[in-house]
Amino acid sequence: MMLDKMGQSDIIVFASPTYVSNVTSVAKAFMDRSIRFFEMTKLGLKCRYDKPSKVILITSCGAPFPFSHIFGFATGCIRAMKVFFKYMNVKIKTFTATGMTCFDKESCKKIFKKAYNLGKNI
Ligand SMILES: Cc1cc2nc3c(=O)[nH]c(=O)nc-3n(C[C@H](O)[C@H](O)[C@H](O)COP(=O)(O)O)c2cc1C
Repeated sequence: MMLDKMGQSDIIVFASPTYVSNVTSVAKAFMDRSIRFFEMTKLGLKCRYDKPSKVILITSCGAPFPFSHIFGFATGCIRAMKVFFKYMNVKIKTFTATGMTCFDKESCKKIFKKAYNLGKNI
């Protein structure tokens, strides 16, 4: 049912908080169960189902920038999502909200602005 809805959608927004430099177990289970969208065109394996044309991948992580990226926290989570979604052969955009454990008003504004601009340019 959920997979059918995914197939009928133009865009999928897939988000997971960063847990131990990776996606959460719930997000991983979801990806595991969505394997029918996999395409390996080089091997002649084409997805038989309808699929969205675009995917937006979002993560939030506790570590502030640049530590979120230097130590691979946020990048690890986004990479795990990309590994899955790249096999859908769809356009991918990513969004990372860093520093969620030391959240102040100013950084909150910046993150919302970044998210707004991403939404506007989909
Ligand atoms: C089990 C667990 C593991 C986490 N691992 C990381 C991590 O590896 N790197 C990081 O920057 N933040 C980590 N965090 C912080 C979360 O990414 C942060 O709490 C989340 O982005 C904010 O969402 P929340 O309000 O649901 O906690 C972890 C949080 C939990 C609960």
